Amino acid sequence: MNALRIAGLTVTRGAGPVIRDVDLTLEPGRITALVGPNGAGKTSLLEAVSGVVPAAAGTIHIGPDEITKHSRVARARRGLAHIEQGRAVFGGLTVLENLMLTARTRARVDELFDLFPELEKRRDSPAALLSGGEQQMVVLARAFAVRPSFLLIDEMSLGLAPVVFTRLLPLVTRFAEEGAAILLVEQFTHLALGAATDALVVSSGRVTYAGGAQELLASPSTLHAAYLGS
Ligand SMILES: Nc1ncnc2c1ncn2[C@@H]1O[C@H](COP(=O)(O)OP(=O)(O)O)[C@@H](O)[C@H]1O
Ligand SMILES: [Mg+2]
Repeated sequence: MNALRIAGLTVTRGAGPVIRDVDLTLEPGRITALVGPNGAGKTSLLEAVSGVVPAAAGTIHIGPDEITKHSRVARARRGLAHIEQGRAVFGGLTVLENLMLTARTRARVDELFDLFPELEKRRDSPAALLSGGEQQMVVLARAFAVRPSFLLIDEMSLGLAPVVFTRLLPLVTRFAEEGAAILLVEQFTHLALGAATDALVVSSGRVTYAGGAQELLASPSTLHAAYLGS
């Protein structure tokens, strides 16, 4: 399977660049934790990769093909999925109906239920009645229904307790084991690094650490310095 390669990516919003000269490669089976302070540019980076916002400079390739100027839909067709920050369920629809929106066939939903047995028990409940953690599980399942090669996840823990988020992480690991390349933006830095193979820290739009996730986890002083941008 192909890798997704980002080189020299710069994203401009309003007054100036919010992401500057970022290099990053997402490979099948690997989970990259993207962490950094609020306002560092994490969401903007994901949005440029999926095509929500244009890149001001730099290139994005999937395998040999450049996709920098491709539409969102064209990128999705190439296997790129983006769970946007604050993405929610359709509360008035049942769990099954939510999943059918992307899975399209009942057979495909049944495959998802094998991965998410907790959701099968709530199959006919309106999604609004699920707990926050269960709702995020629906959001994850909906994104995974199309078997994306590249999955960008922006703060799925928003509003969740760490213990609830801890139950979602094994699913992300499972997706990677099935061959997806994952970019995971997370406020629970230590939990994200614990589940990740690689880490990228951004501070004020610049990469301040790129390397192994476990190495970063083992060096609090490196993590601290990267957050501060030094
Ligand atoms: N739609 C927008 N218009 C103008 N500026 C924005 C917009 N979205 C984000 N920004 C600015 O871009 C910078 C990076 O924001 P963001 O990518 O949301 O960071 P993070 O996800 O790391 O918190 C911030 O300074 C933010 O104020
Ligand atoms: Mg954000």
